[in-house]
Amino acid sequence: MDLTKISAPGSPKSFLSFHENAEISAVGALPPRAYFIPFADGQALSADRTASDRFESLNGAWDFSYYDSVVDLPDDFTKAAFGGFIEVPSNWQLHGFDSPQYTNVRYPIPYDPPFVPDDDPVGVYRRKYTYMPDGLRRIIVFEGADSCLYLFVNGAFAGYTQVSHRMTEFDVTDLLRPGENDVVCAVLKWCDGTYLEDQDKFRLSGIFRDVYMLSRPGKRLENYRIISDMHGNFSFSAVGARCELDLFDGGELILSGEADEGRAFTAKIGGAKLWSAEKPYLYDLVIRSEGETVLEKVGFRTVSVENGVFRLNGKKIKLLGVNRHDSYPDTGFYASREKMLRDLTMMKSFNVNAVRTSHYPNAPEFYRLCDELGLYVIDEADLETHGSIYVYGSMRENSGKNMRDSIAYVAGSEIFRGAILWRETLLVTRDINRPSVIIWSLGNECGWSETMRLAALTVKELDKTRPVHYESIHLSLDGTPNGDIDVFSTMYTHPDEMTRRLSDAGETRPFILCEYSHAMGNGPGDLEDHFRVFMSSDRFIGGLVWEWCDHALPTGTTESGETAYGYGGDFGETVHDGNFCCDGLCYPDRTPHTGLRELGQVYRPVRVSRKEDGSFVFRSTLYFSEASESLSCRYEITDDGRAVSEGTVPFSLPPEGVCEVTVPEACAGFSSDAFIRFIFENKETGAQVCFDQLRLSEAKRPAVRPSVPAPVLAASPLSFEVTAGDARFVFDRRRAKMTVIEKNGVNVLEKPMTFNFFRAPTDNDVMRSDWYDVFLDNPVTKVYETSAEISDGCAVIRSFQSYGRAVTAPFGRVRAEYRIDGAGSMTLSASFETDVVGTEYLPRFGVRLFADKSLGKVSYLGYGPFESYADKHEASYFGEFSSEASLMYEPYLKPQENSSHFGTKRLSVTGGGRGITITSESGFSFNVSEYTEEELASKRHRHELEKSGYTVICADFFMAGVGSGSCGPRLDKKYRVPVPRCEGTLTFEFF
Ligand code: GAL
Ligand code: MG
Repeated sequence: MDLTKISAPGSPKSFLSFHENAEISAVGALPPRAYFIPFADGQALSADRTASDRFESLNGAWDFSYYDSVVDLPDDFTKAAFGGFIEVPSNWQLHGFDSPQYTNVRYPIPYDPPFVPDDDPVGVYRRKYTYMPDGLRRIIVFEGADSCLYLFVNGAFAGYTQVSHRMTEFDVTDLLRPGENDVVCAVLKWCDGTYLEDQDKFRLSGIFRDVYMLSRPGKRLENYRIISDMHGNFSFSAVGARCELDLFDGGELILSGEADEGRAFTAKIGGAKLWSAEKPYLYDLVIRSEGETVLEKVGFRTVSVENGVFRLNGKKIKLLGVNRHDSYPDTGFYASREKMLRDLTMMKSFNVNAVRTSHYPNAPEFYRLCDELGLYVIDEADLETHGSIYVYGSMRENSGKNMRDSIAYVAGSEIFRGAILWRETLLVTRDINRPSVIIWSLGNECGWSETMRLAALTVKELDKTRPVHYESIHLSLDGTPNGDIDVFSTMYTHPDEMTRRLSDAGETRPFILCEYSHAMGNGPGDLEDHFRVFMSSDRFIGGLVWEWCDHALPTGTTESGETAYGYGGDFGETVHDGNFCCDGLCYPDRTPHTGLRELGQVYRPVRVSRKEDGSFVFRSTLYFSEASESLSCRYEITDDGRAVSEGTVPFSLPPEGVCEVTVPEACAGFSSDAFIRFIFENKETGAQVCFDQLRLSEAKRPAVRPSVPAPVLAASPLSFEVTAGDARFVFDRRRAKMTVIEKNGVNVLEKPMTFNFFRAPTDNDVMRSDWYDVFLDNPVTKVYETSAEISDGCAVIRSFQSYGRAVTAPFGRVRAEYRIDGAGSMTLSASFETDVVGTEYLPRFGVRLFADKSLGKVSYLGYGPFESYADKHEASYFGEFSSEASLMYEPYLKPQENSSHFGTKRLSVTGGGRGITITSESGFSFNVSEYTEEELASKRHRHELEKSGYTVICADFFMAGVGSGSCGPRLDKKYRVPVPRCEGTLTFEFF
């Protein structure tokens, strides 16, 4: 192709020039409208749009040719031979053309607006369309194409559109001829819109949402607006044609009327049943106009902000939400109705009530599903210019200027003003009738500027019934006032900091965390702390966890038939951001992470506490429904892990209310660690919704020592040897390690038992380089002293040693005491001390044992069944659990520390008639794994992991929490290994 045709905007020769013109966003397209699908009059109406006679899906196999560069496109490309096929909708990078690129903030192309690289990849799509004139127009609808699309019908240019996540309609009737027609689309990977779509995602291209043809009359209902509030006020205004309206309440006609252009229909219905996420009550509205019928769903509800408090239907509610991207390992950006339904149903089952469509509008059907299922939506415009910060910083003229605010540079540039305002118009226009949309969001991370202020005004001009959200008001290059934003929003703010910001000078708006608890890898560990803050003031609206799912794409199949997933850097990218895209609450295939289970618990609708008199208080976090309408409750009491009683608990709990229940069995005397667990189940499905566990008594275990003869101790210059019945212990004095623990002649230690300070860094362990700097993973020992004696009928070995390797002082010193009784049980008490700066916190302090892999059976009395940490054990409860070493593994896409169990009182690892039991009165954490921490730390992907050949047992006096530091605040001090001093005791028994 002749370059002049593409690089000279506006030149007469130019026919593919719109994508490098920031003033032009669409050519030949119909004006944007609210999403609806007409049926033919007389047809049975249904929520399934494909049932409409006026709807023809154009999804399926299209002819496809891929060109690496638009320059290579033949001039007559609409007629050229096609190389193959592609499934529509899809992203071509998932079908062998071009390759995926994952970048977060950094622009994938040079910042040179409105231009984009000449080597702009193009996918040319073609399909046949059979047309028989019937008096109806043919309107082709594209629900999404990344980044822009040129449309040709029978070789003639029909139109152009950009803004990847918009819905665009073209009336192509005049280009069609009876019989077979050629529809050709040229989709370009980059366009000037790319600068406004710098969302943190894989960069993928193509027609990625549904394509269909609508047959509609020439004079038709072009658009309409419904307003329906909590007082039963209903109004309908029509554009383009007169229409008749019937409003039904569950099949019963309750209202009829007419609307015409300029003459809205208004009415008030008495006793309107209101819409909320808890009770998503919808009325059916049948709209008849010009031979078409539209089935609409109407929800009566009101969103308001009063005195700094966000309200729905007059009640101050909390949004307990998640951020969701369109991202599927098999279909990329394409979210089919089934896939969206699955996501949303899952969210509901984990007690999520809100979703932010980060950072672009979702497919139109998404909002219908949210209306129906009951989810509050923060609907966000297709807009992010985060790459600004690198662009601005790299410009010579800006050297020394305020880099903090540089995020505002691109969106604040004059060249994009029109395009940005247009994106807001597209957002509001399409989704305005959806009751689930309760907040508009102007976009993400574009900084604050006059353009963004105008963006807020644009939204308000179109819709006065919903508040406007935009997080990025805090960073501005031009000092524009931000009072037009209705909601004060931040991301990743530490819970304590939130309370402080609430009273920021002059700040009176309701406060939301539009992103919090970065769910990358093992985490998040700060959900409950956030929840408590959300509940602490009416001005907090709540928050939305970042983010719903890991983004990763298959790179092959493992020997065992599992999908191998790749992330940034696995696709030959020059610029990429590694695994920062694997930061979801579920795996790419939607298997829940433990973090999602944790979230489901924190967002639970009922919380239970115990009163001094022994009764229990149920507290509802529902605002509109009586909890017992949908939930039943049963309880189980365990003593030392053993079930002692169970039963059901009748209750009645009004919205936001409390009720008191008594369980007589809970007042019995217990000898040990006794707990009661209230389990709430969905009355309809029986599925567990949440639980609450409360302690009834604390174990007081007297140290009973069997009265047996004292062990025999033998000392030599390099070792101590202890014989206790059929057990023998050898302690290496030179290395301060137990090297042999023999029971009945078999050494249970496959390697010496060592102190352990390291863990395979989690994504949230952002200080990991400090750990490596001081060689936490690989220290050598200096032994200062060792001693041994027989005391109180036990052999007692003591040692004092330091750990370090090079460069700095030793990172720590350990004093250890091994007390071996006559029956061969060993109690290890150890303390760790450090005065080395640079280790912000230790990941753990404990010991590690390598046992024969035949010791594969695990049972424990502690927090399970899910992995649990000091700050991540809401989804787990204290109980007796059994598992196997091979199953005690959480397959994070990038391997890391996993499957620890917090608060453990007893652990047994057994097999082949042998075993080890570890107990601790104050509780410890443990991992039992087939993998070593070194292996987990060294591999980029889970499918590369190699088993160690041992059962690796880590017993930790203290295991640090996990937090959400990969993007959020540093791990809270209360979850860190206490330094400068940490100590603990573990008792080992061998059999
Ligand atoms: C936020 C951003 C998200 C995502 C996240 C990190 O700053 O809004 O889009 O990039 O950080 O995963
Ligand atoms: Mg960003």
